[in-house]
Amino acid sequence: MAEVTVTSRDGVEHALAITEGMSLMETIRDAGLDELLALCGGCCSCATCHVHVDPAFAAKLPPMSEDEDDLLESSEHRDDTSRLSCQIALSDNLAGLRARIAEED
Ligand code: FES
Repeated sequence: MAEVTVTSRDGVEHALAITEGMSLMETIRDAGLDELLALCGGCCSCATCHVHVDPAFAAKLPPMSEDEDDLLESSEHRDDTSRLSCQIALSDNLAGLRARIAEED
C-alpha cells in the first residue's frame, strides 16, 4: 500500500496510507493528528495546514497558487520547503513522500 510519512511536532514519524484524491491535509487529519488545525477545511484561506515537504519531492508537487503563496507569507516559519497540505492532492505518484508538520505560528 502506498504511504506517506508525516512527522508530528514531537518528532514522531507516522506512516499514513494514501487514498487517491484525498489531500495530504485530509490524510493527516483523518489519522488523528489534531495538531494540524486546518481551520478552513481545505479552502486555502487559513494557513493552519502548513507542512514542510522533503525537497526530494518538490518537483512532483502541484504548482503553488498565488493564494497559497500569499498565505504562507504570513507564517514566520516559512522556508523553501513550505506548502499548505490542503493543496497537495495525493496519488501513488507521491508514494514515499515525507513531510513535517510546521511549527505553530
Ligand atoms: S486547511 Fe486552511 S489553508 Fe489549508
